[in-house]
Amino acid sequence: MSYELSVENVLFKRIVIIGLGLIGASIALAAKKRKLCKEVIGLNRQSSTLMSAKETGVIDRAIENLSEISSDLNGNDLILICVPTLEFESVLSECRRLLRDCVTITDVCSVKGYTVETAKAVYGFEPFQYVPGHPIAGSEKSGMVAAAPELFANHLVILTPTLKTGQKNLQHVKSLWEKFGASVCFMDTSRHDEILASTSHLPHMLAYSLVATLASRADYQDIFRFAAGGFRDFTRIAASDPTMWRDIALANRRAIVKSLDCSLADLHILRNAIDSSDSNTLMEVFTKAQGARRYLSRINLDRIENESNSHDAKGFEEIKYRVKPGGHCCAELRIPGDKSISHRSLMFGALAEGLTSISGFLEGEDTLATLQALRDMGVVIEGPSDGRLIIHGVGLYGLKKPKKPLYLGNSGTSMRLLAGILVCQNFDVELEGDVSLSKRPMNRIAIPLRRMGAIIETSEDGFPPIKIRSNRKLKKIAYEMPIASAQVKSSILLASLYVDGESSVAEPAPTRDHTERMLKEFGCDVRTINSKIVIRGGTPLLGKSVEIPSDISSAAFFMVAAAITPGSSLLLKNIGVNPTRIGVVNILKMMGADIQFLQTFNQGKEPVADIQIKYRPLVGIDIPKDQVALAIDEFPAIFVAAACASGATRLSDAAELRFKESDRIKAMSDGLTLLGIEVIPAVDGLTVVGGAIGGGEVDSLGDHRIAMAFSVAALRATSEISILNCKNVATSFPTFVQLSRQVGLDVVVETQ
Ligand code: S3P
Repeated sequence: MSYELSVENVLFKRIVIIGLGLIGASIALAAKKRKLCKEVIGLNRQSSTLMSAKETGVIDRAIENLSEISSDLNGNDLILICVPTLEFESVLSECRRLLRDCVTITDVCSVKGYTVETAKAVYGFEPFQYVPGHPIAGSEKSGMVAAAPELFANHLVILTPTLKTGQKNLQHVKSLWEKFGASVCFMDTSRHDEILASTSHLPHMLAYSLVATLASRADYQDIFRFAAGGFRDFTRIAASDPTMWRDIALANRRAIVKSLDCSLADLHILRNAIDSSDSNTLMEVFTKAQGARRYLSRINLDRIENESNSHDAKGFEEIKYRVKPGGHCCAELRIPGDKSISHRSLMFGALAEGLTSISGFLEGEDTLATLQALRDMGVVIEGPSDGRLIIHGVGLYGLKKPKKPLYLGNSGTSMRLLAGILVCQNFDVELEGDVSLSKRPMNRIAIPLRRMGAIIETSEDGFPPIKIRSNRKLKKIAYEMPIASAQVKSSILLASLYVDGESSVAEPAPTRDHTERMLKEFGCDVRTINSKIVIRGGTPLLGKSVEIPSDISSAAFFMVAAAITPGSSLLLKNIGVNPTRIGVVNILKMMGADIQFLQTFNQGKEPVADIQIKYRPLVGIDIPKDQVALAIDEFPAIFVAAACASGATRLSDAAELRFKESDRIKAMSDGLTLLGIEVIPAVDGLTVVGGAIGGGEVDSLGDHRIAMAFSVAALRATSEISILNCKNVATSFPTFVQLSRQVGLDVVVETQ
């Protein structure tokens, strides 16, 4: 195991690793493999391990005492403390006694409150040179023999700097982990210990305890013979190093006990449900856990990232698309389910009485955020499995107070529609979201809901989090919306379900009417009279079977792809063509696109069609104002079509585009300009002059629709287009890359 040195990569002169267990030895191997220092020095209490580390080339030099090298060490060197948690104090005391302050010290202990407090006690103040760290990587195997240089690649490392931690020291340690291929995030010390107590320490305690319980049985050898995969998966971590876990249990006592108490209370509920044959509670627990385990890990990771951004951390990995220029666009495609209808089917199914079965559900992160929020309020939802769900409706008044704020990720629809439901409950609740959602205007719903008597608070600027107080006494409203917004309309209609008598919402222009259509299906009295929607509240909804058509907003990217690519022919199956959603078809047709609805039929209350698109040259147009609300989500794609048309395409009266997942006027105008297209932005729209699309790197600003629009632009680009921050494509169209490749785009996905 010897690696050649190259001077360019050198980050430190010497890395001194104290403790050559699995983590310490893996750090040594990673540093040597990547040539990150001139010398890796190891120190280990057990001399046989130390000798073997030297002999096998894990380290370059073995020392038995820090004093052997301490006088040589300076600001170019790094000490990594990799001993079990409770040995940290004695090792750090040695460091304090022997080392100059310029030497950076970091560690890998799993309990950060303990190491930070210990450092303060050892030094008498918070030493700036100590950078508290914790790689979230490891294995149930222990010791140097299990070490691997790639142990940290694609793993997370949490650093918990204090206000006194030196910026230079912090930067050095961060760079080291990043060179190992890890993602570094920053976190508050106590938050770290609380999170790790629940996600790592608690499972270890449960696994150790379960195996110990079974191992105490007289027949344990016999029963272990019958242990199946489930037992093995669940108890793998009970094979971990006992000393390490004893130390962690003692050092993080308070947080672990809190987690254990929580878990014991929940286990008790489960025990009683089994004992009393309470099938509903069992389904509630199992479906909630299954959903969280299968789909929501990323959303939860995002949440940690948001909370840990205070030091400008990059956090979890973003992705970048690299799309090769050219390609073709021929295929027959099935696009995933409609996002707006999926959200509504979940909410109405939850509020209905009886069962609601759903097919064609979009399993994207936005709709899964709604699903999780409903589960958090006690709704039993089976699935999703292959787009199918069964919701056990709890009725208008059956939601339960969630244990924590509802986290809605990137999804404005979840937040605004759920707020309409939650202002009428008998519990307080808080709604929060990711960085983008936290900058989206909520006064548009808070103002009318307050007029109905709701007690709802936003931040001073009208942004999330939204805090809602328990309230069962809402009054009717006759609201004239100042902006055309289906989310605002739906939020008010949902609140009106809880108010006896008729409420109404008047729209300045027609917006998507899925709420009205689906409420009618669920038995609600709702009518549209000219531009006014009138709803009679106070009656229960009844569970239904809902078939969700494919999402025209996702289909729009492929419609544009075919419309701009010579020789293309595309058939998109089963697309929802509700008249309030087909602005994109109307606009593209006005530009000269060859689009035909081959078959139109009804799926429940929604019209659906197979849509065929063939290439035909496009011309620029002035987009009629009455199409703006009908194509509100499709403008990123339409602007790409405009860039490929002859002449100018002008859009005005579309200031709403500035309040979507990103400021879409700015994002598209910056990106297209960078690709060589002439764009003239305005406050409420923009003009795109058709021309030759060049290559380059554009930023989607984390907006799914911007990312997909620029991917499609590559079909007509002269060289490669890279698109930054594409992770959120999964909010609405998780299979976008797969389907893009199927039609003929050449997309490579890379971590950023
Ligand atoms: C949506 C309505 C639209 C749209 C959003 C989904 C809905 O928002 O942009 O993607 O499902 O009601 P606005 O109502 O804010 O225009």
